[in-house]
Amino acid sequence: MAAQDRIRWDQIYRERADRPYPEPHPLLFEFTPPVDPERGLRALDLAGGLGQNALWLSTQGYEVDLMDISRTALLRAQEEMRRRGLRRVNLLQVDLDQPHLEADAYALVCVFRFLKRELFPLLRATIQPGGRIIYETFNRRYLQILPAFNPQHLLEVGELVGYFADWKLLLYQEDDHIAQLVAIKPPAGG
Ligand SMILES: C[S@@+](CC[C@H](N)C(=O)[O-])C[C@H]1O[C@@H](n2cnc3c(N)ncnc32)[C@H](O)[C@@H]1O
Repeated sequence: MAAQDRIRWDQIYRERADRPYPEPHPLLFEFTPPVDPERGLRALDLAGGLGQNALWLSTQGYEVDLMDISRTALLRAQEEMRRRGLRRVNLLQVDLDQPHLEADAYALVCVFRFLKRELFPLLRATIQPGGRIIYETFNRRYLQILPAFNPQHLLEVGELVGYFADWKLLLYQEDDHIAQLVAIKPPAGG
């Protein structure tokens, strides 16, 4: 475990325990494909924190893996699931410094406000052909707003889209300090 990350994030989530449970990200409303209930589809919310996005995806019919290092965050997600009577979210305490992502496992992966560059090859591989990624995080322009932010966790402008240059882009925008991308993995043999 990346012990420092875990301790730091557990503390952040403890300090925020009395804040309202967050709303899901609006990008999901626009870009999440419907699930055929006969087939069932798997989604991954990577470094999903309190799980607001994972929980919303489960209400749309996805079987969701919520991966995060913070047990405090996952416990709050569990509490919220109970409150809403949701079941189809697997709460996984995972250190993404030592990731294991199965190939071709997910129809949808979402990542919000998280960056570990080493993960991009695994992210590309874990999405099924025809599946999609929904990604939003900060780029270096964020330093103008928060100069103390760790630049390691900030994208270069234009970097995110470079990782998915051979995928079909449904959305890419980076006008300000936030990069947003939605892309579809080419079909097998395509
Ligand atoms: C800025 S928060 C974003 C949370 C969520 N995606 C959202 O948008 O609300 C970053 C998340 O990354 C998680 N994280 C940090 N380092 C991690 C690691 N090494 N492995 C797994 N998760 C990690 C933290 O616990 C935290 O929940």
